[in-house]
Amino acid sequence: MKKLILGLFMTVLPTLALAAGPAVSLDSVDADHTNKASLQRGAATYMNYCAGCHSMEYARYNRIAADLEIPEDLFLENLIFTGAKIGELIEIGMDKKQAEAWFGSAPPDLTLVSRVRGEDWLYSYLRAFYKDDSRPLGVNNAVFENVGMPHVMVAEQGLCAVPPRIGTAPNVDPLSGNVRNVDICDSWAIEGSMEPAEFNSAMYDLTNFLSYMGDPIKVERERLGILVLIFVAIFFIFAYLLNREYWKDVH
Ligand code: HEC
Repeated sequence: MKKLILGLFMTVLPTLALAAGPAVSLDSVDADHTNKASLQRGAATYMNYCAGCHSMEYARYNRIAADLEIPEDLFLENLIFTGAKIGELIEIGMDKKQAEAWFGSAPPDLTLVSRVRGEDWLYSYLRAFYKDDSRPLGVNNAVFENVGMPHVMVAEQGLCAVPPRIGTAPNVDPLSGNVRNVDICDSWAIEGSMEPAEFNSAMYDLTNFLSYMGDPIKVERERLGILVLIFVAIFFIFAYLLNREYWKDVH
């Protein structure tokens, strides 16, 4: 009996750990894989700003081109900077050992990062860099403490002098309907080229793209799911009629 209780306790224990949730509060976003324009913009940002360090070695360029409806010649010309062929996996030239020496840890592959971290975490993390002179690269991150990654979008977002406000609920002005806390930074050390709202929207697109990468068949799966349910519903009618026919003479 004691063993049984102990066993039960141990099976319940891990769910408690999950229920505790993340330690930092996050901004939330809804990924939308049907929004092709957003995914295209996200892919462009990724290839320009992230693909130098982060591979996506479980995905091929031409799969993205097909899913996002980008013509292959345009993709090849504007989004592949490594000389790779359109059918190749998205790999990087950086040596892992050297990267570790530069950043403290090698940049991880990002194909499935949205499945591990979740969209809210990514969206928050990408906007949470701030100035911290005690760190080797002069920046820290409010969502990922002491991160080894530099703030690669500093020219666009700017550099916040204090930890930005991540995870505060949207504050809508009741009179004008404007969202007041679009700008999550109270004091900027460096001004960026983008307005806060513009940068948030660019990071939403990038998050959306990473989310699509982690589950590229989501839209198709959901479409098929509905067809299957319709089939089951129609099939049920015939199954029911057949069943009635068989049992008719028994009673
Ligand atoms: C100069 C190289 C470099 C560039 C460019 C870069 N990163 Fe990173 N990134 C890193 C390194 C290094 C880490 C590992 C940090 C650590 O573990 O401390 C990292 C970590 C991450 C993580 C956390 C992964 C995890 O689960 O631990 C995410 C997400 C990420 N990067 C996204 C991006 C995105 C999106 C871009 C493009 C806007 C980008 N990175 C551009 C170097 C880079």
